[in-house]
Amino acid sequence: MNITNKLYLNRYSTRILSEDNFSLEQWNDFYQSLDEELKTWSLDLQSYPNVEDFWKKRLSNYFINPNTGEPGSVPMPTFGKNLGIWCSDTDKLIGYFSVFIVSLPPEHKEKPIAMFLHSYVVKKEHHKKGLAKLGLNTYIEEINKSYFRLSPSTKKIKHLARIWDYNLGSMKLAESLGFQRLTQCASNDKGVEYNYVKDYWR
Ligand SMILES: CC(C)(COP(=O)(O)OP(=O)(O)OC[C@H]1O[C@@H](n2cnc3c(N)ncnc32)[C@H](O)[C@@H]1OP(=O)(O)O)[C@@H](O)C(=O)NCCC(=O)NCCS
Repeated sequence: MNITNKLYLNRYSTRILSEDNFSLEQWNDFYQSLDEELKTWSLDLQSYPNVEDFWKKRLSNYFINPNTGEPGSVPMPTFGKNLGIWCSDTDKLIGYFSVFIVSLPPEHKEKPIAMFLHSYVVKKEHHKKGLAKLGLNTYIEEINKSYFRLSPSTKKIKHLARIWDYNLGSMKLAESLGFQRLTQCASNDKGVEYNYVKDYWR
């Protein structure tokens, strides 16, 4: 990384998003400001019914009781939360990283492996300054620590990104962090989507 990029990175910080440091309004400001980024990224809610529910559960400092929807008494580990990148000049969110645990295929179900699917976006005017690399790397390390602590029997964590072959920025990001391109997972008339995977051993 050159000196200009190092100086630039000093103006930004990463933060795990929780109810103490983040609000739905801040998310809305960020989300509404996205434009071109939405050509290759969309908010992945997985099984959450809507954005409000997603944030209520993701920002909670405690595991939500699935029966009542109320926070419980066990602290929410980092792998259950999201990560943001903030610009210190404007105090605005400019990058966002989230993750979901993926079920392993039946032949691997008994193995001590956990798999996380990543989703990430950085605002266009801040691209190619090393911010996604900083954010994703920080987040992966936090997830590893937090998951290994909660699940001592897990021996390996697989980090997964699904990337279309026309998304050069995302492919380069994944490669620069040591992800390997493995199987094809989808295709359409615009291109092919691949699984990119990076393994961590305890
Ligand atoms: C993908 C994305 C998050 C990358 O963010 P970024 O902050 O620009 O990435 P970084 O600056 O950290 O770059 C990481 C590496 O990728 C390279 N890179 C990033 N964008 C690139 C591009 N458009 N073309 C070529 N290389 C690129 C950088 O040079 C850097 O390489 P290095 O580590 O060898 O120096 C950003 O382009 C984005 O938000 N795109 C829209 C949303 C999206 O597509 N999300 C991913 C869906 S799978």
